[in-house]
Amino acid sequence: IREAERLAAECATIDDLARAVGDFGGSPLKATCENTVVYDGTPGASLMVIGEGPGAEEDRRAKPFVGKAGQLLDKMLAAIGRRRTENALISNVNYWRPPGNRNPELDELAVCRPFVDRMIEITRPKLIVAAGGVPAVSLLNSRDGIMKLRGNEYTYRTPGGYIAALIPMLHPAYLLRRPQDKSRAWRDLLLIEKRLRELEA
Ligand code: URA
Repeated sequence: IREAERLAAECATIDDLARAVGDFGGSPLKATCENTVVYDGTPGASLMVIGEGPGAEEDRRAKPFVGKAGQLLDKMLAAIGRRRTENALISNVNYWRPPGNRNPELDELAVCRPFVDRMIEITRPKLIVAAGGVPAVSLLNSRDGIMKLRGNEYTYRTPGGYIAALIPMLHPAYLLRRPQDKSRAWRDLLLIEKRLRELEA
């Protein structure tokens, strides 16, 4: 973690950061992956979406949210006027696919966190959307699950003192399994749209 903190602190741009994460050898997950998946989309956008971590398709293509869940995420964002190519930055709390898509362990998340925080400090989003329980619980350091956390707005503060609003939402992969929760997801999106408009005003 010290090494990750040192490397992250030296980064001035998101490209520096992507390179530093790629060179970083401190995650045990790296050995079983094809690629390091850092970010996609528009650095500097007021919206930053942070997911759980790469799946198989993301590992293959070295880009976050490009599989089935990613396609749904793009549709969800499009419904509120956001596109990764224009006005959204997409990343994860973990940059390497865990074997068999299991959830990342706490220590695996911990080594990525200095890079996550530095990315937020460099790109200065006004609103961070935590997609799913893993990023929501990790970023908010909460004991509650996603069902309790969603529907509310929180404040995220990086160690360097940058402050952004944070809203948890249901993960698109979860919605693919449970389409009956679509109305909940829709409420999440409406809250996100409303707050983005206010924060951008
Ligand atoms: N699910 C995530 O949480 N992140 C990705 O990048 C892809 C799928």
